[in-house]
Amino acid sequence: MQEPDHIPFSPPYIDEEIIHEVTETLRSGWITTGPKVKELEKFVANYTGVSQTLAVNSATSALMLCLHWFGIRKGDEVIIPAYTYCATALAVMHVGATPVMVDVENDFTISPDKIRTAITTKTKAIIAVDFAGWPCAYEEIKEMIGDQEITQKFKSGSDNQKQLGRILLISDAAHALGATYQNKPIGQWADMTVFSLHAVKNVTSAEGGIICLNLSKPFDNEKLYNQLRLWSLNGQTKDALSKSQGGSWRYDIIYPGFKINLPDVLAALALAQLKKYDLYLLRERRRVFNFYYTFFQKNKTFQLPAFDDPDRQSSCHLFPIRVHHFTEEMRAMVIQKMAEKNISLNVHFVPLPMLTVFKNAGFDIAHFPKSYELYCNEISLPVYPQLTDKLCLHICSELCKSVEEIWHDR
Ligand SMILES: Cc1ncc(COP(=O)(O)O)c(C=O)c1O
Repeated sequence: MQEPDHIPFSPPYIDEEIIHEVTETLRSGWITTGPKVKELEKFVANYTGVSQTLAVNSATSALMLCLHWFGIRKGDEVIIPAYTYCATALAVMHVGATPVMVDVENDFTISPDKIRTAITTKTKAIIAVDFAGWPCAYEEIKEMIGDQEITQKFKSGSDNQKQLGRILLISDAAHALGATYQNKPIGQWADMTVFSLHAVKNVTSAEGGIICLNLSKPFDNEKLYNQLRLWSLNGQTKDALSKSQGGSWRYDIIYPGFKINLPDVLAALALAQLKKYDLYLLRERRRVFNFYYTFFQKNKTFQLPAFDDPDRQSSCHLFPIRVHHFTEEMRAMVIQKMAEKNISLNVHFVPLPMLTVFKNAGFDIAHFPKSYELYCNEISLPVYPQLTDKLCLHICSELCKSVEEIWHDR
């Protein structure tokens, strides 16, 4: 493979097998929601070990659908980390509820202690985010929401809330397909888990999202799947494929549903990637992670992200390295220097309380000191299968040089 002149941050992985799966769908005579979506859902259900998954057009709409299903609305609170992408909070706002932000731990994931103090009688759900593909402290969070002291605070405002009788745990696992916690795949840890299939994710359909349904009895996940499937498609009793069969034109609209279904042509793209995910795409991301680890491990200038411990295995989505004693300004200079060397780096994320829409809603970064501390000197390095060891070495060496130059010039 020819080495590129420019190292992009996160190009999609598209090979001939993937193109073949997509073109086969284009030629099949059916391009919107149909057999490929079903195949994708079955694949992800098998992969994560849950009985049902539902594919929709983005992780953002998947999160909204989960919140909506639970009857979350104006006046309700949903606890989220301050360190996440805006979608986690916007989904809450789109159903009319209030996001309650809490600070994170040193590994960028939501702090269980901070969750506990944020819970009120209005709390209806927690959205835990597996930042960079690194799982949250699910055991502690689950124990907490099952705690009698917390369940007694829970006030149900819908049939589903009454049936669950406690705070709903949603996992925003937009980054975490393929990650494990205590040897069980992400997908099985929360009541509902949402993966993103956006273009920069480990597995992509260009745009898309998948919900793993993992509610325990008396909920019936198959029934729930059928209900949410309708909600994702205008509340229509028949999808377009069934309606297109001869003589099958009659339908009803039984919910004021959304229009957030995933088309087959996009599902085909994700499906083809998933078929080579564990054996190639994820394995290669791990190789890149290991390369960076080995290279930087002994260098005291950098702090490396957690990606493997006895409890958790990352999906290696992002490599958020931190430069000790760097300020925001110095970090911006490094990224600029690297861009001039044709290497694209990134920052994940600007904490939500630093963004206009959330500042206007009254959030202030001063209340989230850990999020600010992590953000200031964080740099995300490129991670994708196409990065050869030679390119990884080039990125690492140039990063060290750029950081040294900045120290030197001060
Ligand atoms: C943590 C997190 N949650 C949710 C999303 C939203 O994903 P989507 O673009 O599929 O709606 C993203 C997207 O980058 C994300 O990073």
